[in-house]
Amino acid sequence: MTQTVRVALDTRAYDIHIGEKLLERAGELILGVRKVKRVFVVADSKIVATHLPRLEKGLAAAGIAAHVVTLQAGDAAKSWDNLGRLLDAILDQRPERADLLVALGGGVVGDMTGVAASLLLRGLDFVQIPTTLLAQVDSSVGGKTGVNTRQGKNLIGAFHQPRLVLCDLDVLDTLGPRELRAGYAEVFKYGLIDMPEFFDWCEANGPALLAGDRAAQAYAVRVSCEAKARIVTEDERETGVRALLNLGHTFGHALEADLGYGPELLHGEAVAIGMRQAFDFSVRAGLCPAADAARVRAHILACDMAADLPRQHRWNADALIAHMGHDKKASGGKITFILARGIGKSFIARDADIDAVRAMLAAECAA
Ligand code: GLY
Repeated sequence: MTQTVRVALDTRAYDIHIGEKLLERAGELILGVRKVKRVFVVADSKIVATHLPRLEKGLAAAGIAAHVVTLQAGDAAKSWDNLGRLLDAILDQRPERADLLVALGGGVVGDMTGVAASLLLRGLDFVQIPTTLLAQVDSSVGGKTGVNTRQGKNLIGAFHQPRLVLCDLDVLDTLGPRELRAGYAEVFKYGLIDMPEFFDWCEANGPALLAGDRAAQAYAVRVSCEAKARIVTEDERETGVRALLNLGHTFGHALEADLGYGPELLHGEAVAIGMRQAFDFSVRAGLCPAADAARVRAHILACDMAADLPRQHRWNADALIAHMGHDKKASGGKITFILARGIGKSFIARDADIDAVRAMLAAECAA
């Protein structure tokens, strides 16, 4: 059964369809949104063999011609140079306003395709077909696009909403366990932000979801997309409440940056540790019951994920704080944290005591 979540953004409103065999139905579903004769499919090189033939079949069945451009997988691909190559490859085919871009891949491909769509011919429509759990529940929804530069991550990009998002649950079967778990961190994040009953559900069903339970996956993707759609509808351009989606990210990004965004720590793994740190810091600041932080740690461990800093790296609290200061969400030199008064009671903290954060990090780095 296909479920649909609406992102109700006035003239930029769109549907997220969640279900099985959606790649095969992609052409028909795209035609349900608008007329199109030709699409440019930007595909992650890692999934070309597994998913592209299904999509091509689905497009051909609806009479849509597809021109495929492949992108190297991995965060290093999200570069300005690669964006230039992608734009060139599409411009060589003489795109027209009636054409549409389709992102088939994880967050890197979705973000790059979004930037390309926002720039080509002053803005082309695009469709997101996320092939990782993380992209299905977070990055494909909400219109954030971006490329990395030597100065930092996602410093160039636009808010450009897709016309449609297709979350085909079949793709989850092809993910390795580590990638699935990393994506799941962004699922239970929604429970920690403002849906305590969803976190209860995650505690009861998370391990089954990770073991491949399709009903649990369908429910979790739907609830996550509903949560994200609700928050994005309220604050599309992150002037307020959308910042809550960064729970675990201020701490987590600092870990990723210190590791040079290498393979030691996937984004979702860093976010899981970052959420545990946000809750532990909230306890230290006298804001949150210790029992709630203990539940966060216990759930991360129950899902076979690390809750603490990886030991094979030498960490330094000052370096981590410096990374936080470079984040594009820092404002007026101040670092914004998402802290919590309990599970499902997260809030934006613009005046957190940095010395207290440093002290907690120093204790963790020395452990
Ligand atoms: N991934 C956070 C956001 O879309 O705002």
